[in-house]
Amino acid sequence: MEKKYGNFTIIVKEDYDNASAVAADVITKFVKTNPAGVLGLATGSTPEGTYSKLAEANHAGKVDFSNITTFNLDEYHPISKTNDQSYDYFMRQKLFNHININPSNVHLPNGEADPHAECVAYEAKIEDAGGICLQLLGIGANGHIGFNEPDTHFPKKTHYCALDKSTIIANSRFFESADDVPKNALTMGIGTIFNAKEILLVVTGEGKADIIDKALFGKIDPQVPASILQLHPKVTLVMDKAAAAKISPKL
Ligand code: GLP
Repeated sequence: MEKKYGNFTIIVKEDYDNASAVAADVITKFVKTNPAGVLGLATGSTPEGTYSKLAEANHAGKVDFSNITTFNLDEYHPISKTNDQSYDYFMRQKLFNHININPSNVHLPNGEADPHAECVAYEAKIEDAGGICLQLLGIGANGHIGFNEPDTHFPKKTHYCALDKSTIIANSRFFESADDVPKNALTMGIGTIFNAKEILLVVTGEGKADIIDKALFGKIDPQVPASILQLHPKVTLVMDKAAAAKISPKL
């Protein structure tokens, strides 16, 4: 199913694999038309399928990343790049080691640097690159995008933040225990994300059905950070049927 809802193009596919294929296609098309474009990338389990399909397409010679620049949304702090739970490590394992991207065009916030100076430097690097053209996003079960947690306001720029208790618990599945999850992170701000010309939001699994319903049909509220996307001029939302269970009847 593909429908327009406001500025959203909503695509619902049968399952995770098919949703990942659509997301990979959106990125592939973008790279073909913007071979030196700036891509915003995300971590989490949701984009893993998208990344493996992009690696396949690159191996098959269908897409060329050699002139693409990337900026990731976020990174834990403090964390070293060699820690297998760092987003730096994740991105190399899931995508960068498998595509022909130039490592000097790849950017993630540095989880080992002074956090405040790093946020200013990261935001400036994005600006210097001309801003993000296409930003890939997942959504946290609490509505976070990047690590912009539920708050009283929408943070504008890349910033140092404390992780929500619920995020620490959700992400502890990748660590030995919740105690091992870093309590802080560096993340693009809502303003940084919102400045992307186009957003590709991928939401899969029944565990996300409630939050995507709130984000799309609820009020625009910093307590549901993704709800700000209702105001963005160009969002492609790709879901599987399980994630779309609550919103499908409303479309
Ligand atoms: C993480 C990341 C987000 C991601 C979210 C959902 O904490 N910071 O960028 O979208 O959680 O992750 P998952 O796709 O594993 O549900």
